[in-house]
Amino acid sequence: MADHLPDLDTAVSTALQAVEAALTLDELREAESSVLGKHGVFAAAKKRLASLAPEERAPAGASINAARAAVEAAIGERRAALSTGERAKLLESDRIDLTERRRPEQRGHLHLVTQTQQHLEDVFVAMGFSVEEGPLVETDWHNFQALNIPPAHPARANQDTLYLDFGAPETTLLRTHTSPVQIRTMLSKAPPIYAICPGRVYRKDTPDARHTPAFSQIEGLVVDRGITFGDLAGTIDAFTKAYFGADINARLRPAYFPFTEPSAEFEVTCAICRGDGCRTCSNTGWIELGGCGMVHPAVLRAVGIDPEEWSGFAFGFGIDRCAQVFHTISDMRVMADNDLRFIRQF
Ligand code: PHE
Repeated sequence: MADHLPDLDTAVSTALQAVEAALTLDELREAESSVLGKHGVFAAAKKRLASLAPEERAPAGASINAARAAVEAAIGERRAALSTGERAKLLESDRIDLTERRRPEQRGHLHLVTQTQQHLEDVFVAMGFSVEEGPLVETDWHNFQALNIPPAHPARANQDTLYLDFGAPETTLLRTHTSPVQIRTMLSKAPPIYAICPGRVYRKDTPDARHTPAFSQIEGLVVDRGITFGDLAGTIDAFTKAYFGADINARLRPAYFPFTEPSAEFEVTCAICRGDGCRTCSNTGWIELGGCGMVHPAVLRAVGIDPEEWSGFAFGFGIDRCAQVFHTISDMRVMADNDLRFIRQF
């Protein structure tokens, strides 16, 4: 009996009007739930199906479904239209003018020590050296033993070592110099070798004007036939002129390192007092940059290179120290302080 059902045609046309009237997606969602929801006209019609005569239920159900489908289709279309419109509005309101000029961004830059390392690398690469790297955590063998510094050798006392709690006691350490990279380079490459090895090193040092417990060194290693001390002195001289310029002199003074023989200390004119003597150079007029010498035959043998056939020289000096001399920085500790007033000057 049709009069038990609401008038579906009226219900559909009312619903379509509500859908048309919705101006935003929110309004459409409201219209949708009031028409199609649990309390809507179609739900009410469905409930009444039960009261119809059995043979009337199927056709009545079909017309409810058809009416409902017509409303759903209209809602779908309206939703598509409204979303396109809202998206366009959103795009318009979110638009950013990329050509707009803003306050210039403050960009960081490489730290002075990194800049200095790169500058030093450039100088040596121009002289024909390759750049090698090694790990910061080293074995006692690479850092000491292969460099002719056996356990209990007094030279160990000069390099106050930070040992790591790893493996057997005192077998793993933070490298105290870049010289273990000499060992690694000779183990992985056959001579002739012309290499530099820059990187950080660590010592249990008390910070003062010329020392910090973590600093950077650059190692040099040459192994070839017929290399002499003259080649070493010439290389140091060429480097000093190329890096520091004509007004800084280098000098070599006899020294001792277990891994080189003969050995020398490599000093340059103190750029702060220009050689007159000041606090930074302890009134000597010279600043020690590092050490050097002819690679000890025991070191060549430790890495399987025949000292009868090959000879070489090595040097190692502080990168922070170079920056200190180059930029006349009286106290080394500022390199590690991370004070922007210092960092921004370079
Ligand atoms: N490794 C030495 C040091 O750190 C420097 C050095 C390197 C000396 C190479 C001689 C040869 O003091």
